[in-house]
Amino acid sequence: MSTPVSARPAPAAKEQDLTQTGAPALEVKGLVKDFHSGGLFSRASVRALGGVDLAIRKGEIVALVGESGSGKSTLARCIARLEKPTAGQILIDGTDVLKRDRFQASREYRSRLQMVFQDPFGSLNPVHRIEHFLTRSLTLHGKAGTPDQLRRRLDELMTTVGLTPDMLNSYPHELSGGQRQRVAIARALAVEPEVILADEPTSMLDVSVRIGILNLMRQLRDKQGISMLYITHDLASARYLADRIAVMFAGELVEEGESLDLLANPAHPYTRLLVSAVPDPARTGSYDPHERAALRAAVMESASCAFDGDAEQRCSATEPVRHRVGDPANEHWVRCHLYRPPATAASHALSAEPLESPDASPTDDSRTENKASA
Ligand SMILES: Nc1ncnc2c1ncn2[C@@H]1O[C@H](COP(=O)(O)OP(=O)(O)OP(=O)(O)O)[C@@H](O)[C@H]1O
Ligand SMILES: [Mg+2]
Repeated sequence: MSTPVSARPAPAAKEQDLTQTGAPALEVKGLVKDFHSGGLFSRASVRALGGVDLAIRKGEIVALVGESGSGKSTLARCIARLEKPTAGQILIDGTDVLKRDRFQASREYRSRLQMVFQDPFGSLNPVHRIEHFLTRSLTLHGKAGTPDQLRRRLDELMTTVGLTPDMLNSYPHELSGGQRQRVAIARALAVEPEVILADEPTSMLDVSVRIGILNLMRQLRDKQGISMLYITHDLASARYLADRIAVMFAGELVEEGESLDLLANPAHPYTRLLVSAVPDPARTGSYDPHERAALRAAVMESASCAFDGDAEQRCSATEPVRHRVGDPANEHWVRCHLYRPPATAASHALSAEPLESPDASPTDDSRTENKASA
């Protein structure tokens, strides 16, 4: 169910200078993840990520959207180094961390990048009080200090996430779902990260408390300049919270751009389908189930789009060129063979590779197979 939000409050002027400096806090290049599938002796694999490029600037919130199974969590888990990518680079301050810490993420890496999961209850061991989780995080990362400093830091963390310090004595089951997710965020904040990867942090919460968590995430960005990857199915909350939206389909990013521009002018058929499902009072007739069904049918019947699920089709066989959409200031691009840039904007193709001819035969069998099995 969508979070009922439509307007985006602007950050306070004083806080603006902390947000979005040009340098990427985190950059991912050509990230590939294959999962082994089949039995013990099988060599089959499923390609969950097919070469993802994504950059998040300092103080920027990027929403990653896409339907179930598109690879959103796999991308976050690879970035958090909970999964080992098959290929590609993860750059922090321009350094490829996969080369530097080859086998597992270093403590330094974890102190710069933290993950918040969908299920706050699952990530908090029920036998411990809240104080334990926060103290452990602070201690592990050398931020506990003296007992007095630790006490002050614990109180401060609770206040930052909108909880009262007396809740430090509570057990997870004594808190509501929203309060537990605030604890999970406080635990991530304890290490003073530069980037938070939040994988559907509100999807298990009651609609009435979701907005509070989204506002907390926004405050953390505005006041502490933390960058975020916000994974969600809910385009309304992505519009509310994120500066940019990246759309993932079958393990690949197919469209990305400034949030409001992307939602107002979706260029990829898959994005249009996602957008058509969002009730929006500002768009008259935006949620017409018949129109949506017709759109889905049209996309599925499309003769030259991987979105129809036919692995023999062109998007599966050849890499579509990235096209800029609209005003360059919106950094909006789409990767789709169906997209036709305006005639006056022939130079809008962002990629160096030319378009393949329509009768091009599949050039990369493994890619085709992986798409078929994914
Ligand atoms: N550990 C695993 N082993 C094998 N396949 C996996 C594993 N984890 C994910 N996959 C596969 O990778 C693909 C992407 O899964 P992922 O969980 O990243 O999707 P998602 O976009 O997060 O979906 P959802 O919105 O439902 O959370 C799916 O086809 C999934 O079955
Ligand atoms: Mg997921």
